[in-house]
Amino acid sequence: MKATMDKLVNLCKGRGIIFPGSEIYGGMGNTWDYGPVGVEIKNNLKRAWWKRFVQESDNSFGVDAAILMNSRVWDASGHTTSFTDPKMDCKNCKTRHRADNLIEAHSKGAVNPDTMTNEEMEAYIKEHHVVCPKCGKSDFTPIRTFNLMFETSRGVTEEGQNVVYLRPETAQGEFVNFLNVQRTTRAKVPFGIGQIGKAFRNEITPGNFIFRTIEFEQMEHQWFCKEGTDAKYYEEFKKKAWDFLVDLGFDPEHLRFKDHDKLAHYAKSACDIQYLFPIGWSELNGIHNRTNYDLSRHAEFSGKAMDYLDPVTNEKYIPYVIEYSIGADRLMLAALTEAYDEETLDGGDTRVVMHFHPAVAAYKVAVLPLQKSLGDKAREVYKKLSKSFMCAYDEAGSIGKRYRRQDEIGTPYCVTVDFDTANDNTVTLRDRDSMEQIRLNIDDVAAYVGEKIKFD
Ligand code: GAP
Repeated sequence: MKATMDKLVNLCKGRGIIFPGSEIYGGMGNTWDYGPVGVEIKNNLKRAWWKRFVQESDNSFGVDAAILMNSRVWDASGHTTSFTDPKMDCKNCKTRHRADNLIEAHSKGAVNPDTMTNEEMEAYIKEHHVVCPKCGKSDFTPIRTFNLMFETSRGVTEEGQNVVYLRPETAQGEFVNFLNVQRTTRAKVPFGIGQIGKAFRNEITPGNFIFRTIEFEQMEHQWFCKEGTDAKYYEEFKKKAWDFLVDLGFDPEHLRFKDHDKLAHYAKSACDIQYLFPIGWSELNGIHNRTNYDLSRHAEFSGKAMDYLDPVTNEKYIPYVIEYSIGADRLMLAALTEAYDEETLDGGDTRVVMHFHPAVAAYKVAVLPLQKSLGDKAREVYKKLSKSFMCAYDEAGSIGKRYRRQDEIGTPYCVTVDFDTANDNTVTLRDRDSMEQIRLNIDDVAAYVGEKIKFD
């Protein structure tokens, strides 16, 4: 892998993939805007996920729940009390840090702060003279816990306002709709609910580009099953999550499972799939056996029974849940990292090429007239092909430069319209990875490319 974070950030900014958020105002920390190319790539990743986890599963159903939920949801889920980070301020340079991150960085990953109490973390930082990454001094305030939920208020008058939260995860929208989905689909346990949507967290630590942002998208899937079958489904979802990544083109050498050292009090088992990001091995997604904690808590806090009645055995129970959760933006960063390559060509030139899975690439085909005078014919071809998939059109600069521009955003095929096109209705189709060219009839291009861009 030759991708560094700087190279990716520069490429993304220069090629319309991702821009710094609110850039003309000097930006806003940990926010990013997807550009014309980036929005296509991200949508394609979401489409691939939805296809695999909702569309192709005969017993999974989608929802799109509200971002703003009744605040009691977050009391029930435990977020109002426990969704906190342990923060410390550097007394010298006044910067704010997460104690767990300081320890992880200081020990180069050898010490796992997840298993430590706040007091233990404070003691470790003092004892090992852990320094502030900004100013190098070791003089911190005691740890204070900091709730990561963004708060806003609902109501017309100051007095009548109620606190509401921007959801910090999409999962609760799936839990609170468990019975709605079950009733309206007549689904039998086991079944799944999937959702893709925005989540918000008031993260205080540096984001590492789109790795950790304050606004991001999650793709979450809850599998509701009977206690006793949960361990089997936990393993199945681990495999499904892994296969999804490998099928998207990830090298298994760049992926690994990591069991959680400290389980949440309600979890029976939990692991992450880590990816070898430019910042090192880090969490890409999580798989959790959440037992029947979430549905039980919602039953308790809402007063509504969350039981499932088995139509065959007449048994009533609250299902267990296997959760699979992955950030769309984090997957985007992983896909960018995995795709990035710098190649030395035969003549000694180098090219940057993004080897995205064709299903993920923003544009499937770029239509390029060999010369500007062939523009009318080329636009005709563009019009025809863009009925089937996203296409780019480029007539500016030498053909070599145009190929390079498409390589840099990962367009799998370039169709060149030349002087023969008008006579024999054929075009040249260039493959991004092999750079080989074949001659095809215009009428056959959509079917040829359509086959190659499938995600199965
Ligand atoms: N419902 C479970 C849940 O939200 P999580 O581990 O907090 O679990 C799941 O988040 C996934 O969401 C992570 O594996 C990561 O891919 C993504 N994610 C979490 N926080 C994020 C952030 N601040 N920015 C970008 N992605 C994030």
